[in-house]
Amino acid sequence: MYIPVKLSENIFYAGVNDRRTALFENLMPLDKGVAYNSYLINDNLITLIDTVEVGQIDKFLKKIDAVLKGRKIDRLVINHMEPDHAGSVKIIAKLYPDIRLIGNKKTLEMINGYFGITNNLIEVKEGETLNTGHHTLQFFMTPMVHWPEAMVTYVQEEKILFSADAFGSFGTLDGGIFDDEMEFATFEDEMRRYYSNIAGKYGSPVQKALEKLSGLDIKMIASTHGPILRKHIPEVLNLYNRWSRYEAGEGVVIAYASMYGNTEEMAETVARKLAEEGVKAIRMYDVSKTHFSYIISDIFRYRSVILGSPTYNNELHPNMEALVTKLLHTGIKNRYIGVFGSCTWAGAAVKKLNEFASAINWEQVGIPVEEKQALKEEKYLACRELALAMAKRLKNC
Ligand SMILES: Cc1cc2nc3c(=O)[nH]c(=O)nc-3n(C[C@H](O)[C@H](O)[C@H](O)COP(=O)(O)O)c2cc1C
Ligand SMILES: [Fe+2]
Ligand SMILES: [Fe+2]
Repeated sequence: MYIPVKLSENIFYAGVNDRRTALFENLMPLDKGVAYNSYLINDNLITLIDTVEVGQIDKFLKKIDAVLKGRKIDRLVINHMEPDHAGSVKIIAKLYPDIRLIGNKKTLEMINGYFGITNNLIEVKEGETLNTGHHTLQFFMTPMVHWPEAMVTYVQEEKILFSADAFGSFGTLDGGIFDDEMEFATFEDEMRRYYSNIAGKYGSPVQKALEKLSGLDIKMIASTHGPILRKHIPEVLNLYNRWSRYEAGEGVVIAYASMYGNTEEMAETVARKLAEEGVKAIRMYDVSKTHFSYIISDIFRYRSVILGSPTYNNELHPNMEALVTKLLHTGIKNRYIGVFGSCTWAGAAVKKLNEFASAINWEQVGIPVEEKQALKEEKYLACRELALAMAKRLKNC
């Protein structure tokens, strides 16, 4: 037995938790799991909003059946085609052969491309509405949040926004499904890690989406991942506004690679001096230990970044190379950067980190430090100078 969770009198939660998948997009660790949220409008035309990852179909169908008790679904709104949501579309379409799939022009092309479905489709355009009986669904395009076909669905009567990936979060819904049923603050880190790694590249499309949605009276945001928001809406909109503008708080992320501890010693030296200079928010990561998604999430949070790497076969350490490549792809703006490195015969790491700093167009702070072999007094003091310069830059920003 399952008692369905209601968003309103006739709108139900039909999402599922996934605590088994290790990596989201086969890339990002899911330490706290992830929820795939889907919603069901029980109206004259029974309407499903998005589906779930296909491996979760069994749990999903049970939740649907708890509401419908054998009745058929008439409509499926597809806000986003990424398979973590659209993965079950083909099965749903087979189970309900008369179902009409609703999406925009780009969605319908993808439905054909992924599933070979070309009929029973309804195309919707910007601002258009569809009526299910007692509910009016209005559609707004939010391209690149997170794919080009992404859109959101607003239920006018209930003022609920089905926002697809926007405002979503990693982390399962452990009993609490609404933000006021849980310790919501515990979700902020996973929400930022989700945003920064999934949509972080698309700051300007996110800004456009926020502007568009600012005209709506929203009482509830029902994303495809994470808690349904009905209490913390202004807070989360504000976070999205800051993140998509690449605004950040006072703090330093130190990320280093180190095989034998020499570069790490430099990182420790930098961190200590930052603390002496009054920087409280210092996040230090060994890139071989911590997945880049966590480091990037903190780089979205803090204004300063200090990177250190040993030279490895005339290149950066491969794990630092992976981090800087991902940062370049993400294109975070408006950060300060300091760099350091270690080598034994001919240093290349600092040169490569300098190249990265100019490629990403971050303001370089302090004098780069590169030590040969063990860390000695002169470079130890140079690491402290680098930290001092960064602490001063942060305070004057
Ligand atoms: C696989 C490997 C490749 C390396 N390649 C270079 C190199 O191309 N140039 C160089 O000057 N040092 C090279 N080194 C030496 C390291 O950069 C140097 O020992 C550095 O201090 C290591 O820093 P760590 O203790 O933080 O790992 C290499 C070391 C290893 C293990
Ligand atoms: Fe997505
Ligand atoms: Fe998603």
